[in-house]
Formats: sequence, structure tokens, C-alpha cells
Amino acid sequence: MCLYAATGLLLVGCSSGNGGSATAPPAPAKSIFGDCGSGAEIELPCGFPAPKPQDNNPVTMAKVTLGRFLFYDRNLSFNQTQSCADCHQQDKAFTDGLPVSVGSAGGLHPRNAMSMTNVVYNSTMNWANNQIVNLEQQALAVLLNEAPVELGWSGHELVMLDRLKSPSAADYAGTALAAAPPDYPAMFAVVFPDEADPITLMTVTKALAAFGSTMISGDSEFDKEQRGEPNAMSDAAKRGRELFFGERLECFHCHGGFNFSDSVNHAGLKFTQQSFHNNALYNLDGAGLYPPDNHGLREFTLQAEDEGKFRAPTLRNIELTAPYMHDGSIATLDEVIDHYARGGRLITTGPYAGDGALNPNRSSLINGFVITANERLDLIAFLKSLTDWKFVCRDDLSDPFGNIPKNVMCP
Ligand code: HEC
Ligand code: HEC
Repeated sequence: MCLYAATGLLLVGCSSGNGGSATAPPAPAKSIFGDCGSGAEIELPCGFPAPKPQDNNPVTMAKVTLGRFLFYDRNLSFNQTQSCADCHQQDKAFTDGLPVSVGSAGGLHPRNAMSMTNVVYNSTMNWANNQIVNLEQQALAVLLNEAPVELGWSGHELVMLDRLKSPSAADYAGTALAAAPPDYPAMFAVVFPDEADPITLMTVTKALAAFGSTMISGDSEFDKEQRGEPNAMSDAAKRGRELFFGERLECFHCHGGFNFSDSVNHAGLKFTQQSFHNNALYNLDGAGLYPPDNHGLREFTLQAEDEGKFRAPTLRNIELTAPYMHDGSIATLDEVIDHYARGGRLITTGPYAGDGALNPNRSSLINGFVITANERLDLIAFLKSLTDWKFVCRDDLSDPFGNIPKNVMCP
């Protein structure tokens, strides 16, 4: 017999070899992610692998919806001024447009806000942190971070949870939901029915992670062309694609694969690919030193050869995520090309002076190249063909409180 059939939820496994005996372990919840055309609640772009199942935090649509409210709710910061979305704004492909981010208490973050494009596929989170490997850990780190204070929960956890347990109308004044603030107690109870106390630091991070995992982008002009729409990309972008994937420029070695990054994780992978490279931005002392607070992977491994090594981030939606690099020190895509063409950045004056091209940790793939003015335009056209407007405009990823405007290109 099949205990679950009546609920219509878990038909798979009912007719398994053990006859569906009452001792059989419950089948895992059906994933909301499915291939393109599968009719799944979240259809993956065609050709994308399935995300790794999060056994400790199965993603349900109710959890995703709850996570969306939390992600956009400024009451999630202690001083009620900042939400995740203030640093990860949808109109900028979930970045903030600043060289480095500013926390809710006004402190400068040493690094540039990363795009949340396809974060569910990251094998490590952040620019160069090999310790934070999933979205739950990342959300927890942001809530508790004290250097700098991001959302400022540390030392105030009970206050923050009480705020969610009894949302007050005053806290939502001036937002689009002033008349009907989110009913968190009811939402958490539905999403976490097995928890005696459903509103905890852990359930908050789980819901945030579930929402983040739906930020999947794979519908750019480049993708459409890949799927057989011959005119989706301009001729310039197609020429730029040849350059990008060619051996003169070498970009694809580090920014290759479906997510334009060599550091990805997904279902079916035997080994997680964690990669970090030194792309020769700095060389303060001639021995490869990077500026204070930004030593890259070395901060975690304490190995000298990891000085200045960072993850090659996805280049999807790169048109919208300026300024660039871990510290926002490159303003435009044109200057990014200058950097790679020279084979490292030369800084002639100031405290960070040095020649990145002579950095001993520089990746052997960063060698410099000659590029003509037209080829440069083609490469930029290609990088812009990775913008996914559907993603940037998706309603289910947008701000229910109405604080973060939509991109002017959105319908
Ligand atoms: C003060 C601005 C700020 C706030 C608020 C903020 N972030 Fe971030 N976020 C950043 C910065 C900066 C980084 C890169 C950090 C680093 O490399 O050390 C980042 C990185 C990330 C990443 C990793 C992306 C990747 O590709 O590795 C995720 C995921 C993320 N944030 C999610 C969140 C969530 C969820 C929240 C709310 C709980 C949040 N962020 C709040 C600034 C912010
Ligand atoms: C050796 C590996 C490697 C190669 C080759 C490489 N990159 Fe990168 N790329 C990186 C790393 C690592 C970063 C982040 C570095 C940092 O912030 O310190 C990066 C950052 C970038 C960024 C900024 C991303 C952001 O979100 O700010 C762009 C744009 C970029 N690369 C484009 C290119 C292009 C175009 C090429 C080819 C000309 C190229 N890369 C070649 C490793 C590489």
C-alpha cells in the first residue's frame, strides 16, 4: 500500500521493490528544480545542471517566498536601515554599484558586493573564502558579521527574532506593505512545521538560502544563440565570443563552462571544483603583496603562495555589476581589458604602487596580449551578450516592499 498517495505528494517510490512497506524510509521531497520544459516549479535554463540537493534544507516554494520577504526586509538589520537587497540590488544583477559595500552601521566592507547570479552553483562563497561553501552559511555570516557590521545581529539575536515574531505596523510604515506587513509567525509555521519554535537564527538562514538558490540566470542573448536562435547575438558579439574562447586571450580557462567560472558545484559532480587564481592586480612589495584586508585565499590557508588568489566570478550579467574586481578597483569593462592585455596592472603612485605583471603569484594564464580597437569592441559586445534581462526583471525576485527600483529596461 502507499501511505503517501492520498496526499498526492510522494507518488514516486510507492511501487518500489519492498512493496511500499511501512518501514521504508520516506522518499526525499521532490525538488522544485527541474530541466527546461519539465514543468517543474523552477525550470532550469536548458543545458544547466541540477543544483546539488540541500539535504538539510530542502527548497520548497513556501520557503522561497518567505526568504524573499526576509531578503528585502530592512527590519532584518538591527538599526532597521538595510536589507540584504540594499547591497544586492536586482536592477544591478544583485550588486550595489559601489567599489566596496557599506554596512548598516556605516562601516566599509573591504570588498565589492558580488552578484547573486547563479550562487546556488558556487562551490565556495565570496571572493576568496574556501570555508563558506553554501548559502545557509553565507546568510549566517552576513547576519552575524562584525567586521564590518553588515546586518548587525551579533549580540542582538533575541531582539531580532522577537521583531520577526511580532511584526509591528510601524516597522513597515512607508513601504508598499504598510497596510499588510508580512505575517512572519504564520509563514514560518507553515515552512518549518516540525520546529517547536519555528523562528530561529537557523530557520531565517534556511529561508534566505532557499530564496537565493532560485536566482538562476541563463537566458541571455548568448544562451539563446546556443539554443539555436541564430540571430540572438550580434555579429560583433559572435566575433567577441571567438576571442573570449580563443588561446590568445585565454579568458575561458578561468571563466569557462555554463556559469563562466571554473569554480562550480552541482548535482552529479564527483569532486567539487574550487579554484582561486591571482590575476595580477597588485604587487606592493615586488614579492606579490596585495593591499591590507584583501590578501585573498591566503587569509584562510595562511600559505604565502595564496596571496592575491581570488575566485574567478561568473561573468553572467557583468554589464550590470560595475565596478569590477574584489575591491571594485576597475571601473569599466574597457579597463578590465586594459588590465588583461597588459598582463597585470601597473600602479605608478600611492600606497598600492607596483607592477602586477611582475607578481610572482601571477597565474601563468595572465600573460598579456595584443588586441585591436575593433576586437576590443567585439569582446565588450560579447560580455554584454551575457546580460539576462528576464532575470534582472523577474517579478518573483523583485522587492515586495518597493524600496529597490526595477531596472529602467524592465517592461
Ligand atoms: C553591506 C552590504 C551587504 C549586505 C547587507 C549583504 N551582502 Fe552579501 N555580499 C556583500 C559583499 C561585499 C560580498 C562579498 C564578500 C566577500 O567576498 O568577503 C557578498 C557576498 C555574498 C554572497 C556570495 C556570492 C558569491 O558569488 O560568492 C552571497 C550569496 C550573499 N552575499 C548573500 C547575501 C544575503 C543572503 C544577505 C542578507 C542576509 C546579504 N548578502 C547581505 C555585501 C553585502
Ligand atoms: C587565470 C584565470 C583568469 C583568466 C585567464 C581571466 N580571468 Fe577574469 N578574473 C579572474 C579572477 C581570479 C578574477 C577576480 C580577481 C580579483 O578580484 O582579484 C577575475 C575577474 C574578472 C572580471 C571582474 C568580475 C567582477 O565581477 O568584478 C572580469 C570582467 C573578468 N575577469 C574578465 C575576464 C576576461 C575578459 C578575460 C580574458 C581577457 C579574463 N577575465 C581572464 C580570473 C581570470
